[in-house]
Amino acid sequence: MAQPRQSPDDLYATETSDTQAETEAVLLKHVPADPESPPPLQKAQHLQFLVRNLTQGFPSRYTSQDASQPWLLYWTLQSFSVMGVAMDPDNKQKAINTILAWQHPEGGFGGGPGQAAHLLPTYAAVCALAIVGRPGPGGGWDQIDREKLYNFFLSLKEPDGSFLVSHGAEVDVRGTYCLLVVAYVLNLLTPELLEGMPAFIASCQTYEGGFSSASQPYFSAESDGTTKLLDDIRPPLGEAHGGYTFCALASWIMLQPYLNLQDPASPRPSVEYKRLMRWLVQMQGSEIELGGFRGRTNKLVDGCYSWWVGGCFALLASQGVGGGHGQDADHTSTTHEDEEWDDVEEFVWNKLALQRYILCAAQHPASGLRDKPPKSADSYHTLYCLAGLSAAQHNIYPSPARQAQLDQAWQLPSDEQNHELRKTAFTEALSWSEEEGTSHVLGSQANRVNATHPIFNLTMTHTEGIMSHFYKQTVPR
Ligand code: FPP
Ligand code: ZN
Repeated sequence: MAQPRQSPDDLYATETSDTQAETEAVLLKHVPADPESPPPLQKAQHLQFLVRNLTQGFPSRYTSQDASQPWLLYWTLQSFSVMGVAMDPDNKQKAINTILAWQHPEGGFGGGPGQAAHLLPTYAAVCALAIVGRPGPGGGWDQIDREKLYNFFLSLKEPDGSFLVSHGAEVDVRGTYCLLVVAYVLNLLTPELLEGMPAFIASCQTYEGGFSSASQPYFSAESDGTTKLLDDIRPPLGEAHGGYTFCALASWIMLQPYLNLQDPASPRPSVEYKRLMRWLVQMQGSEIELGGFRGRTNKLVDGCYSWWVGGCFALLASQGVGGGHGQDADHTSTTHEDEEWDDVEEFVWNKLALQRYILCAAQHPASGLRDKPPKSADSYHTLYCLAGLSAAQHNIYPSPARQAQLDQAWQLPSDEQNHELRKTAFTEALSWSEEEGTSHVLGSQANRVNATHPIFNLTMTHTEGIMSHFYKQTVPR
């Protein structure tokens, strides 16, 4: 490795270039003498940090976080899963009871007991239940009111295929992602729910290549008094951002089987993978050998984008884009059929440099993981740094039979007779796995963390466990 140094600039000082230089100066001090021997992942300390944070709850100055109780629990439980920490049955049961108290009587989960249902805490609560729950009375899974949840989802749907995150609230791709994950995991997918979603997602891709939070729908007034959505005038709202980009890309991949069922003659929304890849590469702050990611142009690297942006590379690789060895191009050709991918090398995402950033800079010397030094650690950054570390260590791909199975499953009526077929198809579809011997851990093998599903951010075991339970059941209508 060349002698680490700060990245060159144009000597025209601005606030942005000053903060960039200050950040790099701090990060330079964290570059290890031997780049192959970073400090070890302090699993025991991070575990203690997470437990302390969870049991203390949010400090009183964080009253605004009161609606994030499911998130705090999910960040904690999923961090345990990634680090391979097992929980005892008593603590699992306490977690299940706590989560169920967040379920709204009209469906969905709120940010705490008695709070309005919202798509974001619904994702966090269901994922937390995927980790600690089980079938049967008191196990959490069968106490989810799927019928009300499905109706809650439909009640949030807008005519342009987007979703409000909660009644009376805003539209944003995070909501679409959260809804799709929950619908996938709990077997709630229907054409009615999915109608218009791909076009909405595609419309959020900005000129930079990443995705913004939403887009602006325009409707024409028709002579018969109805309105028509004008898909070709639908500009993205706001700038491309790593968080929204992850949500949009994961949603786009979840929507592929549905898109494949559409009439091939009808116009198809499309996402430009090359433009996306170019933007993702530019989010990589590898100037000084610590390859963290920034979330948007001209902003600073931050540990949480190890997942939001690093995870996008993992998602693209799973689709055979950018040097992966996932599905062959034919299966996803609908989205990039006119593009050549053979010339895109693996190095566009420096996975070892990302692991170095997480281990050297994002680990707080006391415990927990963080945005960047000298910031303090928190549970959100702890999970998304660990998940990013996992994405950088593992290569998770869909099985080659995925597309065929999904196509088959979509064509089956979701009635009793087809339970087994649907179950096999959907659980296999997102039951991705790692090819033996392809993981790459920087430093000691003790730094190894478990693989996490690139779409859901749940381990493979938890994903398969909950999906195989719900794909034995019918889809509520
Ligand atoms: C900017 O923060 C942050 C955003 C504009 C949104 C971030 C969205 C996510 C992280 C995705 C969340 C995903 C789910 C599933 C809920 P900032 O201005 O403090 O940070 P920046 O300078 O790094 O942009
Ligand atoms: Zn962050």
